[in-house]
Amino acid sequence: MSSVPLIRTARKEDCKEIQRLIQELATYEKFPHAPKLKVEDLERDGFESSPPKFKCFVAENPDNEEELCGYAMYYPTYSAWDGKAIRLEDLFVAPEGRGTGLGKRLFSLVAKEALEGNYCRVEFTALGWNQAAGFYTHLGAENTTSSEDRNVWRLYRSGMEKLLENSNLN
Ligand SMILES: CC(C)(COP(=O)(O)OP(=O)(O)OC[C@H]1O[C@@H](n2cnc3c(N)ncnc32)[C@H](O)[C@@H]1OP(=O)(O)O)[C@@H](O)C(=O)NCCC(=O)NCCS
Repeated sequence: MSSVPLIRTARKEDCKEIQRLIQELATYEKFPHAPKLKVEDLERDGFESSPPKFKCFVAENPDNEEELCGYAMYYPTYSAWDGKAIRLEDLFVAPEGRGTGLGKRLFSLVAKEALEGNYCRVEFTALGWNQAAGFYTHLGAENTTSSEDRNVWRLYRSGMEKLLENSNLN
């Protein structure tokens, strides 16, 4: 990259590029068919909802003003033990921008927002094989699957429907 990418808060008109990078990250993670959101969904949820469902930092590609070369998507969540927390949903740097400190800058901006907003932590998941584990460890994060045997669980819509068929709710 010819110069240091500018990082800024995302704007509604970035959603097309954010969606492209979401797809790139999903492909990297070997789930190329997983992203289902359209640009309009991101526009609605991030920029037309109050409060927004997510926030995002984006990095502009210094070699192509039409392109973004990285993003960090995050939103507030809550810990029953420690109070308000930030969930980092996605962190991605395009291959040509990697290894230049861009991922660290994006991650640090989320940490800065968490510290300044008095959030207790930044939490996120990473696939077991992903070498990003080295990056996160290097930057001070702890893998709670190793340290606390904490696993990630999900109840999908089909599971919710089945559950409610067999639940005695009043
Ligand atoms: C993971 C990722 C965001 C890191 O961004 P990056 O711009 O390549 O990393 P940086 O150049 O900012 O590295 C910051 C520091 O981490 C270190 N680092 C980076 N990758 C590392 C690794 N795999 N293991 C150990 N240290 C690592 C760097 O040496 C650097 O150290 P320094 O600050 O002491 O000089 C980027 O590689 C990426 O987008 N990968 C593909 C997508 C991905 O895995 N996203 C995370 C999904 S959970």
